Amino acid sequence: MNMLVALRDWVDARIPLMSTWNDHLAQYYAPKNFNFWYYFGSLALLVFVVQILTGIFLTMNYKPDAALAFASVEYIMRDVEWGWLIRYLHSTGASFFFIVVYLHMFRGLMYGSYRKPRELLWIIGMLLYLALMAEAFMGYLLPWGQMSFWGAQVIISLFGAIPFVGDDLALWIRGDYVIADATLNRFFAFHVILVPFILAGLVFVHIIALHEVGSNNPDGVEIKKGPKGNRWSKDKPADGIPFHPYYTVKDIMGVAAFLIIFCSVIFFYPEMGGWFLEKDNFIPADPLKTPQHIVPLWYFTPFYAILRAIPDKLWGVVAMGGAIFCLFVLPWLDRSPVKSIRYKGIIFKAALAVFVISFVALGWLGTQPATPLLTNFARLFTALYFAFFILMPLYSVMDKTKPEPDRVTYNH
Ligand code: HEM
Repeated sequence: MNMLVALRDWVDARIPLMSTWNDHLAQYYAPKNFNFWYYFGSLALLVFVVQILTGIFLTMNYKPDAALAFASVEYIMRDVEWGWLIRYLHSTGASFFFIVVYLHMFRGLMYGSYRKPRELLWIIGMLLYLALMAEAFMGYLLPWGQMSFWGAQVIISLFGAIPFVGDDLALWIRGDYVIADATLNRFFAFHVILVPFILAGLVFVHIIALHEVGSNNPDGVEIKKGPKGNRWSKDKPADGIPFHPYYTVKDIMGVAAFLIIFCSVIFFYPEMGGWFLEKDNFIPADPLKTPQHIVPLWYFTPFYAILRAIPDKLWGVVAMGGAIFCLFVLPWLDRSPVKSIRYKGIIFKAALAVFVISFVALGWLGTQPATPLLTNFARLFTALYFAFFILMPLYSVMDKTKPEPDRVTYNH
């Protein structure tokens, strides 16, 4: 034991081992009133690690070559020992990543976690979301199925809508006149190396930014501004508890619950009836045969529905970009005197409910053929989606809020 302590001290004299442990875990004080919604940050970290690990093993047998890619994935599924499990962990993991991140973002919306002093933390989160979308989009091309090919064809051709440079830009991205071997090779490089690096870097900065300002909580009360002194320290916030062991243990319980659900899906329903892995993607890519309905996977369909709701291609792309841009500027749209939904009034609660309904409805509409009736519904929900953001500076001031308490509420 003494040897171990001596080794630790030897290392600690050379790199900041103990101070990092203390600053970010053992003496990092988080609000004591975290609830269910605070599981999803650590779960997002867990899924990220699962994706990296399973991705490494997939790469050992996958072939990034237009002539071999599809068959190499089938080989993984049928012949590689445990290959089916690795592949399903990765493909179902992608959908779970988005489920977890959407719930994580919804928590931020509910409790005003995007507001001062957490604007940058929120923006870094949005950059993570963009990087995650890029990662999922490029990963989806790799199995070289019909939907891989045609989905990428549709999305990349959107760049063609940009005036003057559009067509050249689309050509440059594809590296050919259609999606081809060159596209597959570069998407492989980006999916396996570049974007995971960007994601890992952003996750690191996300946590650093979080620990600089401290976590928000379901009451939206700043514990740093409250009274000082708790049972561990005289000068730390009275409403804070050490992250380790209290929240490490709580998060492990979340991980256990998550793994039960995740494994149930993996073992009993890994393709989710076509929602997590589309049926058309079990047919090899055929540049001469367009599938009847080209649809992206569920996590992109809200934005796809917005794109299709606008008759003009360029304006459709602008609206789709605008739908994501609104989330970036959210910290400056909300002018309510309180942060948390607990103390906001009926207008905000109704607006948030309408926003969630619109997002889910758009998600469903994006999976359906664009009939005239459904397109009109998509237009209605697109308008409601944007109204949530554009009208926020008005309704967040008009809303009748309740006074925020001085301390967090906590029932034993
Ligand atoms: C790979 C994706 C992500 C990972 C691994 C991640 C990880 C985390 C972790 C571990 C926390 C602390 C625990 C918690 O509060 O739940 C956190 C907090 C936070 N994250 Fe993320 N996050 C991700 C994506 C996002 C996105 C997309 C957004 C929003 C656009 C976001 C916004 C926030 C905010 C505002 C907080 C502070 C919340 C509060 O204190 O109430 N994150 N994140």
